[in-house]
Amino acid sequence: MRADTDVDARYKFLRDRHGEANPQANGYRLSSFFAREQRILLAALDKNNGPFLDVACGSGLMLEPLLKDGHKVYGLDFNEDACKAATQNSIAILRGDAFNMPLADNTIGQIVNCQFLNQQPPAQTQKFIEESARVLKSGGQLIILWRHARSMIHKTSHAVFTFMDRFTGQPPFPQYEHPMQEVQSFAETAGLKVKQKAVTLPFLKRDMICADGFTAKTIGASLFIVLKKP
Ligand SMILES: C[S@@+](CC[C@H](N)C(=O)[O-])C[C@H]1O[C@@H](n2cnc3c(N)ncnc32)[C@H](O)[C@@H]1O
Repeated sequence: MRADTDVDARYKFLRDRHGEANPQANGYRLSSFFAREQRILLAALDKNNGPFLDVACGSGLMLEPLLKDGHKVYGLDFNEDACKAATQNSIAILRGDAFNMPLADNTIGQIVNCQFLNQQPPAQTQKFIEESARVLKSGGQLIILWRHARSMIHKTSHAVFTFMDRFTGQPPFPQYEHPMQEVQSFAETAGLKVKQKAVTLPFLKRDMICADGFTAKTIGASLFIVLKKP
């Protein structure tokens, strides 16, 4: 397992900032954003094609609603606190590295990955998508949500948090943008087909919009893509 203590420390800080004790928010986010993203991810899952794996799962709550229907849900994370929290939430945890998953080829039906890519440079993003394609069964899906870092709302909040972090002596938190086209082209190179792509919205009645137009550029919350392995 990768022992990246710097990254671990950064995530611990993020969990503390937004309240890891908040059971609705998976430790990292405001609960309203978490609930919206969870609704979007669960709707995209093919529930007849498991097993289900949440990569970089944090506290593992994203797929927790599947447990009540008797599905087997796995979470993978390398952060010790995250793994402990996910275990408490009844997720079968694999402590390990998203870039080198401790899983055999063609074994997982659905992989979800939420709010992870923005801390990874493009080469690592490509590696993660290739690794997911290796682990997915034929007919399986990789569903990714990542921050729409080019939208005004995120540029502003990132600037404010960066300022606060500098002021309080925290190391800068990385933010890679990853436009939709970049992720799509990594996926296609890895042999995955795009099934759905959209921009999610933070507080309007609609959860998602299709085009990367004015609304997405101003208040787009996350980019969302559903990829299928033929
Ligand atoms: C911002 S949190 C998102 C957690 C969760 N997916 C969610 O949406 O609430 C990112 C997570 O990625 C995990 N992580 C970072 N690098 C990782 C790696 N190489 N392998 C596995 N997990 C990793 C961190 O420990 C952290 O739990």
